[in-house]
Amino acid sequence: MGLHIGSIAPDFSQESSERVINFHEWLGGKWAVLFSHPKDFTPVCTTELGAVSKLKGEFDKRGVKAIALSVDGVEDHHKWIKDIEETQNTKQNFPILADGDRKVAKLYDMIHPEANDTLTVRSVFIIDGNKKIRTTLTYPASTGRNFDEILRVIDSLQLTDNFKVATPANWKDGDDVVIITALQDPEELKARFPKGFRALKPYLRLTPQPNK
Ligand code: BEZ
Repeated sequence: MGLHIGSIAPDFSQESSERVINFHEWLGGKWAVLFSHPKDFTPVCTTELGAVSKLKGEFDKRGVKAIALSVDGVEDHHKWIKDIEETQNTKQNFPILADGDRKVAKLYDMIHPEANDTLTVRSVFIIDGNKKIRTTLTYPASTGRNFDEILRVIDSLQLTDNFKVATPANWKDGDDVVIITALQDPEELKARFPKGFRALKPYLRLTPQPNK
């Protein structure tokens, strides 16, 4: 069965550039981003891993751990990390799963045979503190991901969890947000949104971002 938004992220045990990762234990009740790479020593992946290390402060602020996957072994990962650090001017600060046997890639459906029989596509799973998959994204091998967009999605998900709001098209941190339709009780609306809201339609109510 496929993995969907709302599925529990499957547990696994796999080697990584740091140590053997027992995934659920490694999550430790925190949010995480698990993202796959087609192969070690490839140019786009090299830039992506450097970009994520540089964003560590942003991931930490949101309580999110990063973990990558590539279908090569630990020794190759260690050699590649040296190249990543040298060329991207970073220090690798999160584990890269060494998924040579494709155990995790198969579990998370990261191999799309019509694209390539053996290499993973660029999958992203955003997982919450209850181990639930909250977002899945899939990019082709030739397109590097926009990690600012991934942080934006995390911000949106965490706002929904904390404030019962959703985020409209092209929302950026600090923009107005949308009150979820299920929230109708006038007293609760007043209590939750003391800055008020504008109802353009009964189902389209905008309010300033509550945590700003
Ligand atoms: C890359 O990471 O640069 C890459 C990997 C596989 C196919 C195309 C590009």
